[in-house]
Amino acid sequence: MKIAVIGTGYVGLVTGVCLAEFGHQITCMDIHEEKIVNLKKGILPIYEPGLEEVLARNYKEKRIDFTTDIKKVIKEHEVLFIAVGTPPKEDGGADLKHVLEVAAQIGQNINEYKVIVNKSTVPVGTGKKVENIIFEEINKQNKKINFDVVSNPEFLREGKAVEDFMHPDRVVIGSKKEKVVEILKEVYRVLYLNQTPFVFTNLETAEMIKYASNAFLAVKISFINEVALLCEKVGANVQDVAKAMGMDGRISSKFLHAGPGYGGSCFPKDTKALVHIGEIAEEELFVVKAAIEANEKQKIKMVKKIEKEVKEVKNKTFAILGLSFKPETDDMRDAPALTIIEELIKLGANIKAYCPQGIKEAKWRLKLYKDNIVYCDNEYECAKDTDGIILITEWNQFRGMDLKKIKNNMKDNYFFDLRNVYFQNLNIRKLFKYFGVGVL
Ligand SMILES: NC(=O)c1ccc[n+]([C@@H]2O[C@H](COP(=O)([O-])OP(=O)(O)OC[C@H]3O[C@@H](n4cnc5c(N)ncnc54)[C@H](O)[C@@H]3O)[C@@H](O)[C@H]2O)c1
Repeated sequence: MKIAVIGTGYVGLVTGVCLAEFGHQITCMDIHEEKIVNLKKGILPIYEPGLEEVLARNYKEKRIDFTTDIKKVIKEHEVLFIAVGTPPKEDGGADLKHVLEVAAQIGQNINEYKVIVNKSTVPVGTGKKVENIIFEEINKQNKKINFDVVSNPEFLREGKAVEDFMHPDRVVIGSKKEKVVEILKEVYRVLYLNQTPFVFTNLETAEMIKYASNAFLAVKISFINEVALLCEKVGANVQDVAKAMGMDGRISSKFLHAGPGYGGSCFPKDTKALVHIGEIAEEELFVVKAAIEANEKQKIKMVKKIEKEVKEVKNKTFAILGLSFKPETDDMRDAPALTIIEELIKLGANIKAYCPQGIKEAKWRLKLYKDNIVYCDNEYECAKDTDGIILITEWNQFRGMDLKKIKNNMKDNYFFDLRNVYFQNLNIRKLFKYFGVGVL
């Protein structure tokens, strides 16, 4: 079975590499020439733990190749995965231009039966749109060629993407057509044989499952963040609240960690897209809307907390530890660090910043403020001569820092731990003026 993956970002590249690891012959295609040239040399466009090794192995064994030639890809492969970006539009809806462009190209170049598998996160009804576009393009050529469109949303987490793809909680297949189901079972043969749960449903339901899942997780984060703010006011400890809540099997401990708000390429855009889908369908999603608002509030509350404690932010220098929206990724899309840094600079602060993987991305995303930010090579250099540390992303290397060494080189000793990494450390409050989120 010849499989192609169109789009080599976080999802497409992981899909292609992991399917090659499952033993398939894979071609990965992208319009971004430089990405393809680099991938052929084994240079990855993203940081994702474990991906480089799996790619190198499969490239060496010739199970995976890379190209920019979409026409060839369409003609020569039976299964075409679409894994292109669906960024947010001004109105919150998902921008489908890349998906629809690929659909048109498939319609223009299709030569025999294909299964088009959509992995991009798309609003309900997009699969049908893709189907119509391909159908119209075939009609324009007065041809009759069969094809099927199936939704197969992706649930991988950046930072753990390879592991998640290889060991998913479930695989959702949005088609009940026997032929399609058999082909997809073959694509995911390794998982199917491993007893991974499969959900076969219709196209629209599969599309909705992805948005409902992401929105639910976002709601959970916003919920515990609001509880954390309340804990601070009433003298409770959110870490214990979340721990005890999580012991209830109906609630579960996952996604109950108080922090500076969610970010990344999925939750912010997918929650907004779901609200937008609701608006079009005239079904208002109050809970999801509130989660979005609470998340925006949370980021600002972190700045207010810092302002309240240090009194005057102006001319103070802060060490930002962690820029990416979560550990083990270089992804800075909608990262809380962006808002927090911007707001602090507007208040007159100077910033020193260090992140194991996020600096390259941060540099262009924060280019407006380049004169106010010094990027550092490690956490110790970053903290040196600053008034306070702001730990925004809980990379493992920030969990075991030499706190005395850090403190001895600082001007003042504020420590804002926005991930509650050190709240149980016995020395933290002796060495620093320490502030967590929702903890005493
Ligand atoms: N990143 C995640 O953690 C994650 C998880 C699950 C689902 N998703 C969804 O998967 C989709 C892709 O996300 P991503 O994070 O991988 O995006 P990305 O921006 O990292 O990658 C998208 C890739 O598509 C390429 N592309 C755009 N137009 C193209 C075209 N016409 N032909 C070929 N390639 C084209 C781009 O050059 C880019 O390399 C989105 O819909 C996203 O919501 C993402």
